[in-house]
Amino acid sequence: MTVTELDGTSSAEVAELVLACSAVTLRNRFLMPGQPDPRDVLVRYRRYLLAGPPHGVALVAFSGRSPAGLLNLVAGEARIAELGIVVADPWQRQGIATGLASWLRAAGRWEGWTVRAVTHADNVAAKALLRGQGFRLLGGADRGEYHYELTMPGPVWEVAR
Ligand SMILES: CC(C)(COP(=O)(O)OP(=O)(O)OC[C@H]1O[C@@H](n2cnc3c(N)ncnc32)[C@H](O)[C@@H]1OP(=O)(O)O)[C@@H](O)C(=O)NCCC(=O)NCCS
Repeated sequence: MTVTELDGTSSAEVAELVLACSAVTLRNRFLMPGQPDPRDVLVRYRRYLLAGPPHGVALVAFSGRSPAGLLNLVAGEARIAELGIVVADPWQRQGIATGLASWLRAAGRWEGWTVRAVTHADNVAAKALLRGQGFRLLGGADRGEYHYELTMPGPVWEVAR
């Protein structure tokens, strides 16, 4: 897996990725009802999917030449940012989302920020991912959704002995 940070100008990788996602994956990513059409998702969430510095990060994970995963971090209020991750169906459960989250942490740019994420209460994969990244659950289910939060730690450096 390789990771590329988008600068907000190129959308081809994001389009290819979203078109490779099933309706269930898009429903879980965008907390949408029904059977979302990938083309509608691209139009509706374009700005969010491409968000780049200084107010956000869009990271694409490639498996070979194929865009397999996308992490978006979008800054809102002071030092608070919203996290969203999607991995297209053929590449799920291969450590890609974990790899993207690790890249973000290692970059060190968001150290000390409060990062928030929301999932459907029955989204087993997202809950495992967020737990594994150290997010804490804020209360119980609220209208079928779980809200998570993490104070972004700094990069962990290997100490040479
Ligand atoms: C949630 C999602 C991003 C995970 O991506 P992924 O690349 O498959 O995740 P990883 O392979 O890095 O696995 C992360 C953890 O989730 C667990 N996991 C992944 N898919 C799972 C599944 N279907 N059922 C149970 N656990 C699952 C893994 O075992 C791993 O847990 P571990 O660290 O305890 O071993 C992906 O399933 C997805 O895109 N879902 C739809 C969009 C979404 O729900 N986004 C979440 C918004 S924050």
